[in-house]
Amino acid sequence: MTRHRYTDDEISAVYRAIYERRDMRHFLPDPVDPEVLKRLLQAAHHAPSVGFMQPWRFVRISVPDLRLALHALVEQERINTAQALGEREDEFMKLKVEGIRECAVLMVAALCERRGQYVFGRRTLPDMDLASLACAIQNLWLAARAEGLGLGWVSMFEPEPVKTLLKMPEDSQPVAILCLGHVAEFYDKPMLEQAHWAERKDLDTLLFENTWNTPCR
Ligand SMILES: Cc1cc2nc3c(=O)[nH]c(=O)nc-3n(C[C@H](O)[C@H](O)[C@H](O)COP(=O)(O)O)c2cc1C
Repeated sequence: MTRHRYTDDEISAVYRAIYERRDMRHFLPDPVDPEVLKRLLQAAHHAPSVGFMQPWRFVRISVPDLRLALHALVEQERINTAQALGEREDEFMKLKVEGIRECAVLMVAALCERRGQYVFGRRTLPDMDLASLACAIQNLWLAARAEGLGLGWVSMFEPEPVKTLLKMPEDSQPVAILCLGHVAEFYDKPMLEQAHWAERKDLDTLLFENTWNTPCR
């Protein structure tokens, strides 16, 4: 055992947040305590980032018309996605894929402008800015679960109209519409699993040894 190890209870709490985190799409109207929101954003801001780039930006949406405009963009993309799915179109249209109008706090998570000047760790893999933003969102997601709040990640939107709505710079990029708020209960499984859309894969089928597709011994 290492002296750096957390206590058993602390370790359990970390795994509990990981396993009980859910993508939430049903929310209660109760407001989120501003102090809690600050803590969640600080948790996001302490995520790892490529070359310590910190490419994340969070735009809080407090104007009701803006919220409705974002919802309309997502609804349009939901319909386009359904059509692109072909034979699963009807099944998809029955899924709830966002809680934009109901959630207490709505934010757009975005990548900052002028990212080209950051080369450290991105010369061959420029998407590492996106990976860094995803780490920040995951921090926020886990911290929210620990605080008893639900978060939903919505990626069904055309980025350009979102940029126009929020007056974002041309070279920035909206990545996620985040719905945050109190929930009546957390789903005990991913909603897409409950709806028989998809199942969790067997971890062993995703682990290889030395060469691709060679199962671990
Ligand atoms: C990058 C990313 C984008 C996502 N976009 C959406 C989305 O647009 N709508 C939605 O309902 N869920 C979205 N999700 C949530 C996933 O559907 C969800 O994470 C997955 O079904 C597993 O469920 P769980 O998060 O509750 O474990 C997204 C998740 C990620 C990581």
